[in-house]
Amino acid sequence: MSLINALKQMESDVDPVLPMVVMNEAEVDSYVHAVSILQLVDTAASCDQETHEHMRRVGDISMEMAAAIGMHDDFLDEIRIAAMLHDIGKIGVPQHLLRKDGLFTLEERQEMKRHTSIGGDILAAARRHIPSGDDADCLVMAEKIARYHHEYYNGAADHGIAGRAIPLVARIVSIIDVYDALTSMRRYKRPWTHREAVGFIKSRSGDQFDPGLVEIFLDLIEKKHHNDDTI
Ligand SMILES: [Fe+2]
Ligand SMILES: [Fe+2]
Repeated sequence: MSLINALKQMESDVDPVLPMVVMNEAEVDSYVHAVSILQLVDTAASCDQETHEHMRRVGDISMEMAAAIGMHDDFLDEIRIAAMLHDIGKIGVPQHLLRKDGLFTLEERQEMKRHTSIGGDILAAARRHIPSGDDADCLVMAEKIARYHHEYYNGAADHGIAGRAIPLVARIVSIIDVYDALTSMRRYKRPWTHREAVGFIKSRSGDQFDPGLVEIFLDLIEKKHHNDDTI
């Protein structure tokens, strides 16, 4: 059983601790890895203002966007989980910063920015403990997302890479992460309306975000907005 399948099973099981299957040693190993990753997700969610729901929405919409650009089924499974882990590096950021109500000082902002490198390093380390296969591919993808999801398409951000040098998966997640953060309640701001968030994403197309992906995202999110009044 792969990590991805173990996660799917955990989500659908009534009692995920006692799965109704007999696992061999390798499968138990994968299951344990899945539990560990989920525990990391839980920890990341609990130590930040962002919620499990935010992570789940970012994962789900990343998967839908990857489907819209024609990626294969394995890729869709991988990006859903990998995108959920985008802010896992906040585990390494001091609690008082994660819980701060007001604006950050310059120094605090620099400290917060470290979560991309921390997250990338955590996931690279996790990857080294998993043999090649779907799970390893998922963690490689998760590392790219965690490390580069705050890059700017024009190169004006932390790591200074631009355009297609930024991994595709990170360019996808960066749009969805910002849209979802804007439309969510935060301790320092009210939730923006769908229209306001869409306006912001459009205004940053080509500077912060990949313009081709922005078009695909807007098409997708407008349809979701019409079909689902929770977005
Ligand atoms: Fe982030
Ligand atoms: Fe986020």
